[in-house]
Amino acid sequence: MSESEATIEMERGIAQIEASYREALESARDENELRRRNAQYVGAQGELTKLMKWMPKVPGDRKKDLGRRVNQLKQAIEALFSARLEAIEAEAMRAELEGPFLDVSLAGRGVRPGRLHPITRVEAELLDIFGALGFDVADGPLVDYHENCFDRLGFPPDHPATDMQDTFFVTRRQTGASATTLLRTHTSTIQIREMMRRKPPLAVVAPGTVFRRDDDATHSPMFYQLEGFLVDRDVSFADLKGVLTLFAKRLFHEDILVRFRPSYFPFVEPGGEVDISCVFCEAWTHDHERTAGCKVCKGTGWLEVLGCGMIHPVVFENVGYDPEEVTGFAFGMGLDRIAMLKYGIPNIKLLYENDVRFLSGF
Ligand code: DAH
Repeated sequence: MSESEATIEMERGIAQIEASYREALESARDENELRRRNAQYVGAQGELTKLMKWMPKVPGDRKKDLGRRVNQLKQAIEALFSARLEAIEAEAMRAELEGPFLDVSLAGRGVRPGRLHPITRVEAELLDIFGALGFDVADGPLVDYHENCFDRLGFPPDHPATDMQDTFFVTRRQTGASATTLLRTHTSTIQIREMMRRKPPLAVVAPGTVFRRDDDATHSPMFYQLEGFLVDRDVSFADLKGVLTLFAKRLFHEDILVRFRPSYFPFVEPGGEVDISCVFCEAWTHDHERTAGCKVCKGTGWLEVLGCGMIHPVVFENVGYDPEEVTGFAFGMGLDRIAMLKYGIPNIKLLYENDVRFLSGF
């Protein structure tokens, strides 16, 4: 290609671009289109850029003139592009301001506030009651050693209670594990754990979940208990009766009656169960007809609420306390059962279904 041909190509290219760019940029309707058209001229693959490839072939005396014209053209395109961009943005802003009004003040949909689960409420109330009496709160692991759940509490090996509670085992020594561990079947494990790590005097309550393989209208494989115990010099059964009677009055009703019946648990001696007068027929009012027709206490006027007793000397020995020096009492209750009695809930499963129609009734 000759030098004069290169000159002619450049001249023609410059003339073409000069003739078309103004119209192209001015007719672009939005920013995208404007940018696309601008790039067709001055982009890396643009026409003006491509023209420059002729430059080396242009004769020396024309180079300066053609180079200057290409530059001027480029500056003109860039100036027009900037002006158009500004105009398009201003127009978009005006359209938004003059367009339909967006009312952000319309009332939203109401939020339905949550509330505490009945078991959580009962737990909080119990911690308040026992806290006011000076009890500390303790916690422990859900998976514990066989020793803490049974042996140190005075259960003899293979005691029927360990079947009765139908334990969920996690690891078993019989199958080669270094320890037998299980989902704790009661919160009495906390008696062992706290006594082993602290010295008397001590008064502790420990709420938490426990696990047994029971499953019916009044039993769930996972449920809640609250354990309590107190150890000091000269603690007597009268102290136990006083504390539990106060608890029943504060939780249920000032006039409630409390009765202690003998019962057996390996870790207490003597051991007992506590009944309260029925909260459904309000048996403390001695309205015999009403009590006779009560489905909850079945006409007896009494409801069983917890197990208790004086801590067995063997338990003290197992945790390193001297049973000649200290005495103490312990009690354990099902929080689910307490919640069912307090709120008149007929089936324990309702507590675990998370049905808001049920839960919003409290
Ligand atoms: N751990 C017993 C159970 O789960 C309840 C219990 C009874 C706890 C008597 C106690 C107690 O501390 O003294 O059935």
